[in-house]
Amino acid sequence: MIEVWQGDITQLQVAAIVNAANTSLLGGGGVDGAIHRAAGPELLEACRQLGGCKVGHAKITPGFQLPASHVIHTVGPVWQGGHAGEATQLANCYRRSLALATEHKLTSIAFPAISCGVYGYPAEQAADVAVSTLKAELGNAPRMQRVLLVAFQDRMAEILRAALARQL
Ligand code: APR
Repeated sequence: MIEVWQGDITQLQVAAIVNAANTSLLGGGGVDGAIHRAAGPELLEACRQLGGCKVGHAKITPGFQLPASHVIHTVGPVWQGGHAGEATQLANCYRRSLALATEHKLTSIAFPAISCGVYGYPAEQAADVAVSTLKAELGNAPRMQRVLLVAFQDRMAEILRAALARQL
């Protein structure tokens, strides 16, 4: 069910791609910037209506010009050394994004490596949080048929695959 896929998440034709956004939901760099560029200006307009998003929470919009039909915007924690509840907040991003997909009866979802870029979360620890949270939560998502963990770089793909193998 959970697979690692390497490449640009904006190209994936899945029911929802997850955006690693910031609390404003008004765009940014990294995967947030790529998703807004690919979705077109309507995405920003839709995000303006959402009134922001708290860390660890998730909100959904249409995908507009993306091949994905929806974008689930979530805000990961900024890494502060690991003693400020970052793991719980990151787990909440995966948990709440999956719950939102379930609410909307979506059957496929693709996650970027939330917080592993600008927000500085150590990739190995983030991968373990992603895999363990998704494995724990998929029991509550009976319709979900395909969950992709998207790596943009080779190193992240290796780290995600290793995390999956550890938790087989
Ligand atoms: N497809 C898939 N993954 C991507 C893409 C892409 N097109 N572009 C970047 N990534 C990867 C990065 O390589 C990284 O592993 O997404 C992961 C998350 O990195 P960021 O995009 O920097 O997200 P994050 O660390 O959560 O920081 C969020 O950055 O872009 C701003 O507005 C955003 O303020 C927010 C912050």
